[in-house]
Amino acid sequence: MEFKRVVVLTGAGISAESGIRTFRDQNGLWEDHPIEDVATPEGFHRNPNLVYQFYNLRRAQLLDSNVKPNAAHQVLAEFETEHIARGGHFTLITQNVDNLHQRAGNQRIIPMHGQLQSALCSVSGLSTPWTSDLTAEHYCQCCATPSPLRPDIVWFGEVPYQLDDCFDAVAQADLFVSIGTSGKVYPAAGFMQVAQEAGAETVELNLEKTSNAFDQGYYGPATEVVVDFFSRLM
Ligand code: OAD
Repeated sequence: MEFKRVVVLTGAGISAESGIRTFRDQNGLWEDHPIEDVATPEGFHRNPNLVYQFYNLRRAQLLDSNVKPNAAHQVLAEFETEHIARGGHFTLITQNVDNLHQRAGNQRIIPMHGQLQSALCSVSGLSTPWTSDLTAEHYCQCCATPSPLRPDIVWFGEVPYQLDDCFDAVAQADLFVSIGTSGKVYPAAGFMQVAQEAGAETVELNLEKTSNAFDQGYYGPATEVVVDFFSRLM
C-alpha cells in the first residue's frame, strides 16, 4: 500500500544508541532526578541552579563528538527527502530535546518538548539559540528590562510547542509511526488514537511493545527496526 501522508512520532529510544539516556528505562534519567525537581516550573522556582545544571549537562553532551545521529535518525532523513520528492507529505514530531534529527538532515520537524540548544525568555516567550551553559546570570536581549533566561524545555504542566500543527498532521495521516517512546506522556501519547480514529495505519517501532493498540509492531533496537521498516517503505 502506498502511503501519502506520513507522520512519525519519536521519543528517547531513537537516541539511546547515540548514547543519550532515556527517561523511564532501567538507568533512565528519572531514576536519579525527580521529575518534580528538574522538569516542572515549580521545581525551577524552588531551585533554579539545580535545574540549570541538569540541562547544562544534557546540552554539553550534545557537543561530545561521540554523540551523533545513528542509523535510525539517518534513515528518517533519507525517507523524508525521498517521500517529499515523490509528492508525499511528511511530519516528524519529536519529544526529544536533543538535536540529532536536525543533524541527520530532517527538515519537517516539530520539537514539541523544546530544545536543549535554545534558551527561553521567561517574560516574552522568545527562544534564542544557546549552546553553552545557561545560568541565573544570563538575561534576555528582547525585553526593555532584561529578563532571566531559562532552559527552552516544555516542563510538566506546560503546553507543548506547535500542538495544533501536531494534531492537524496526525489527524490527516494515512501512516502513523511511533518510535522509541513509552507512550506515558500526554498529549503525545494520545496521537496514536487520533491517527487511528482518522483511519491511519499505526505502527510501533520500539525495543519492546508498549501497547496492543497499534496495527503493526516491530521490536528491537531502533538502528535495526527503524532502518528495516523505512528501507522497505522507500
Ligand atoms: P521514555 O524513557 O519514557 O521511553 C523510552 C522508550 O524507548 C521505551 O519505550 C523503551 O522501550 C524505548 N527504547 C529504549 N531503547 C531503545 C532502542 N535502542 N531502540 C528502540 N527503542 C528503545 O522516553 P519518552 O517516551 O521519549 O518529556 O518520554 C516522553 C517524555 O517524557 C520526554 O519527552 C520527556 C519525559 O518526561 C519532558 O521532559 C517534557
